[in-house]
Amino acid sequence: MGIKFDELLKIEMAKYVDDRPNSKACFERACKVLPGGDTRTATFFYPFPHFIEHGKGAYMTDVDGNRILDFQNNYTSLIHGHADKDIVEAVSNQIKLGSAYTAPFELQTKLAEVLVERIPSIDLIRFANSGTEANMHALRIARAFTGKAKILKTEGGYHGTTDVFEASVDPNIKEAGKLDNIKVIPESRGVSANALKDVLVVPFNDVERTRKVIEKNHEDIACMIIEPIMGSAGQITPDIDYLKFLREITTKFGILLIFDEVVMARLSTGGAQKFYDVIPDITTLGKIIGGGTPIGAFGGREDIMKLYDPREKKMYHSGTFNGNAIGMAAGLATMTKYDENAVCYVNELGDIFKKGVLNIYQKLGLNMRVSGEGSIYNIIFKDEDVRNYRDVASSHEVLNKLLFISLLNKGIFDAERGMFCMSTPMKESDVDYGLSELEEALRKMLGVINEEAPELIN
Ligand SMILES: Cc1ncc(COP(=O)(O)O)c(C=O)c1O
Repeated sequence: MGIKFDELLKIEMAKYVDDRPNSKACFERACKVLPGGDTRTATFFYPFPHFIEHGKGAYMTDVDGNRILDFQNNYTSLIHGHADKDIVEAVSNQIKLGSAYTAPFELQTKLAEVLVERIPSIDLIRFANSGTEANMHALRIARAFTGKAKILKTEGGYHGTTDVFEASVDPNIKEAGKLDNIKVIPESRGVSANALKDVLVVPFNDVERTRKVIEKNHEDIACMIIEPIMGSAGQITPDIDYLKFLREITTKFGILLIFDEVVMARLSTGGAQKFYDVIPDITTLGKIIGGGTPIGAFGGREDIMKLYDPREKKMYHSGTFNGNAIGMAAGLATMTKYDENAVCYVNELGDIFKKGVLNIYQKLGLNMRVSGEGSIYNIIFKDEDVRNYRDVASSHEVLNKLLFISLLNKGIFDAERGMFCMSTPMKESDVDYGLSELEEALRKMLGVINEEAPELIN
C-alpha cells in the first residue's frame, strides 16, 4: 500500500510550517486585526500563507528568508515581475510631482493612446481602479446603450466581485442543474438575490446551448461578458468558432459583446481579441496595464463610449483615484516595455513550460492535461481535455492543493488551483528549474495519484 493523500499532505504541511516560523508569527499577529490575517480571500491557503519581505524580478523572498520562484505574479498582474527598474524609476519620478490631481494630465492620454492604438475594439477608453470596477462600468454602459437589463455570462467565469458577477463562478456542479438549464448560484453569502435575477448563465464553448438561451431571451439581454480564455476556471481555451459565433449572434440580436481581458490582454500586443481575431464591442482591462498598481479600464466603440462624455450628460463615471498619476506612470512604463518582442518572449517561455509539462507526464506515465495558451497555463488532474467549467470542476482538484504546498516547499509558487504564468524577467533556466521541481513533486505524488485517481496513471 502506497502513501495516502492525507499522510503526504500532513508531511508537506509539517515541512511548510517548520520552514516558516516568522510567517506563522506574522499570520497570528495579522489575524488579530484582519479577518483570516489578510485583506483578500484569494491569498489565503492552509495552514497559513507565507508573508513576503520583498520581490525582485522573477523571485520573491519571504520573511523566513525562503527564496521563491514566482509563477503567480500577483495573480498574473506583474508581467515584468517584481520591482522592475523602469517601472520603479517611472513611479519614483512621478511621485515627486504628485500622485493625483483633480484635473486631467498628459500621462492619462499617453497610456490611453497606447491602449487605443493596440487593442482593436477600443476607440475610446476610461480608467478605473480595478478589473471589478471596469466590468461594473462596462455592464452599465451596455445597459444604457441597449436599453436592456440582463447579462449573459459563462458558468465558471470570474469577472470580479460586484453582485451580478458573483453568479455561478465556482458552483458545486451537483447543485448547478443541467447544462441545458444552468441554475444561477451566488458565489458568496450576501450577494443580492435580486441582482442575480438579471443574470443568465451558459456553458463555455457550447454553441447550441448558448444559441438557445440567446434566442429565447435576446429582447432582455444587454450584453454577454466572456473571458476569451477562461482564466480562473482553469485556463480553458476557446474554440475559435465559438467566439466567432458569439460575435455573429450578439450582433444579430443587438446584444453588446464584452471581452473581459483583465488577464488575457497579455496574449498579444492587441490582447486576446487580436490573437483570436474576434473583435468585441467593449473590452475591459486591468492587472498588467497598471504595472503592479491598482487599475482597471474599459473601452470600446466610439458610439458606445461617448455616452461617458460629460458634454453629452448621459452617464456618470467618477472615482477619486481613476487614472491617478502613479498608476498611469507605472502602466505606461509597463506597456511600453511589453512590446511585440516581450510578448513573443513570454509566449515562448510558456511554450517551453507547456512542452516540459507534457514531457513530465510522459516520463512519469501520467495521463493528465495542461490547459492554457501563450504565457499562462494550468495543470489539470484529468485524463480528458477540458472544454468548460464542469470539465475542470470534475477533475481531481484536491490534488492541485497537495501539488501546490509540495512545490512551495521546493521554492516554487504557482496558484493553488494549478495556474502558472510567465513573466519577462524569467529566463529559460528559471522555467527549467520550475519544471524539474514540478517533476520531483509529481513523482513523489505518484502513489497518492494512483490511490485517488487511478485513471490518471497509464
Ligand atoms: C478575468 C478577471 N476579470 C476581472 C477580475 C477582477 O479584477 P480586480 O481583482 O482588479 O478587481 C479578475 C481578477 O482576478 C479577473 O481574473
